[in-house]
Amino acid sequence: MTKVAIIGAGPCGLSMMRAFELAEKNGEKIPEIVCFDKQDNWGGLWNYSWRTGSDQYGDPIPNSMYRYLWSNGPKECLEFADYSFDEHFGKPIPSFPPREVLFDYIVGRVSKGNLKSKIKFNTRVINTIFKNDKFELSYQDKVNNKIIKDIFDFVVVSTGHFSVPYIPEYKGMDTFPGRIMHSHDFRDAEEFRNKDVIVLGSSYSAEDVALQCNKYGAKSVTIGYRHNPMGFKWPKGMKEVHYLDRLEGKKAIFKDGTEQNADVVILCTGYLHHFPFLEENLKLKTNNRLYPPKLYKGVVWQDNHKLLYLGMQDQFHTFNMFDCQAWYARDVIMGKIKIPNDKEIENDINKWVALEEKLENPDQMIDFQTEYTKELHEMSDYPKIDFELIRKHFKEWEHHKVEDILTYRNKSFSSPVTGSVAPIHHTPWETAMDDSMKTFLNK
Ligand SMILES: Cc1cc2nc3c(=O)[nH]c(=O)nc-3n(C[C@H](O)[C@H](O)[C@H](O)COP(=O)(O)OP(=O)(O)OC[C@H]3O[C@@H](n4cnc5c(N)ncnc54)[C@H](O)[C@@H]3O)c2cc1C
Ligand SMILES: NC(=O)c1ccc[n+]([C@@H]2O[C@H](COP(=O)([O-])OP(=O)(O)OC[C@H]3O[C@@H](n4cnc5c(N)ncnc54)[C@H](OP(=O)(O)O)[C@@H]3O)[C@@H](O)[C@H]2O)c1
Repeated sequence: MTKVAIIGAGPCGLSMMRAFELAEKNGEKIPEIVCFDKQDNWGGLWNYSWRTGSDQYGDPIPNSMYRYLWSNGPKECLEFADYSFDEHFGKPIPSFPPREVLFDYIVGRVSKGNLKSKIKFNTRVINTIFKNDKFELSYQDKVNNKIIKDIFDFVVVSTGHFSVPYIPEYKGMDTFPGRIMHSHDFRDAEEFRNKDVIVLGSSYSAEDVALQCNKYGAKSVTIGYRHNPMGFKWPKGMKEVHYLDRLEGKKAIFKDGTEQNADVVILCTGYLHHFPFLEENLKLKTNNRLYPPKLYKGVVWQDNHKLLYLGMQDQFHTFNMFDCQAWYARDVIMGKIKIPNDKEIENDINKWVALEEKLENPDQMIDFQTEYTKELHEMSDYPKIDFELIRKHFKEWEHHKVEDILTYRNKSFSSPVTGSVAPIHHTPWETAMDDSMKTFLNK
């Protein structure tokens, strides 16, 4: 019997398991599945951990999410086609839920059957080699500190790529008297109440960590961008300046001449695609981009079609794009989709990469990833979902952010699955200090 290893039980790994579950329900004979996750629960990054550094077994903590994290895009854009928000919560809920609510939704879909029994938790895959047309995986049972080997026909890598921080160095860091940390280790903005905070970066982590610090009472927040500013209308107490030149004592000195007192520097400088558990020739090597090369249809490893990667792209679309990838991957594994010859593969990858390299602004990037997802969607029986509506929502959301970065999370969107319109949340995001699911759902 064909045997499939799924490495990681975050949203992508769970999409993969769900795809097989539904095929089995439809009467198809599915392969044997073994899923591995180094955490003690499923949900990937959405499974919040207070821990930073390494866990009780000495293994690095993969989690990068923090208290008070709310969805940064409308939930309607990530909705599962086969399991709507209305179905899970029994009623329409607002468009920008906090982390706990999304965690509940992600695991709700996979909790009804027996998928959890297929996951080895607290189990870290440490090595994968390909020989004699099979994969040999070595994994560590962390609790009993045992190394075990097993053989698989296919490997699905769904380990995420926002877990291993990229940490650059700036002049003066070694003598800075305050705290220097990466957003990967950021857990609670309360820690920075009354502090002068420097945030470096210009993407989603920089934006949200800076806003969190402002919301929870930082004295000042100064964002240092490297290439392009985010350019939002920042609220009182926040500013965005050009690139940190150096730290001198407690002073942060920027390239544009700005000098700012600093108690803490938070590096929101992104993450590395890091696969220490794969042999060299199986490793995807890329930065965070919308079409990493060497992945046919963004999924199948060009040099070995039995190795599949999910969710390795930079992400506007998330959960339903992961689903489209997983449904496609399932059909490749089950032989329902045939992979073309090497030349066609190369042409297809080159076509997408060339398009991606021409993208100039967020609207074009949204269009690009929507087209990619739509193409995949048409290749499997993933249920109907309105990607044109999702495209429209993303563009509207971008414009809401430009209008007012503090209030974009108070807006409402309609579901691409059920058509229902989200109610407006009872408390505007900028004054909602309690992000528990109970408070979010119960007023
Ligand atoms: C701070 C932050 C906020 C975000 N907020 C949003 C948001 O609001 N909306 C949104 O749609 N997306 C958001 N994202 C994007 C996020 O990438 C996706 O939502 C999603 O979590 C990706 O799923 P994944 O399964 O690819 O990876 P992950 O969620 O990272 O899951 C990967 C899993 O693989 C496991 N793993 C890793 N290595 C091994 C190994 N060697 N052996 C065994 N198991 C392993 C990990 O333990 C983990 O459980 C956010 C990301 C970050 C970093
Ligand atoms: N729900 C939420 O609110 C929330 C919050 C945080 C993060 N997220 C998610 O988390 C994921 C990761 O986002 P991310 O922002 O961490 O990573 P990212 O999108 O990959 O961005 C990395 C950033 O680091 C900057 N950078 C890299 N090296 C630098 C250097 N030496 N000095 C200064 N800046 C440097 C880059 O700037 P250049 O452009 O100059 O290269 C870029 O702005 C995204 O999917 C995002 O949606 C969501």
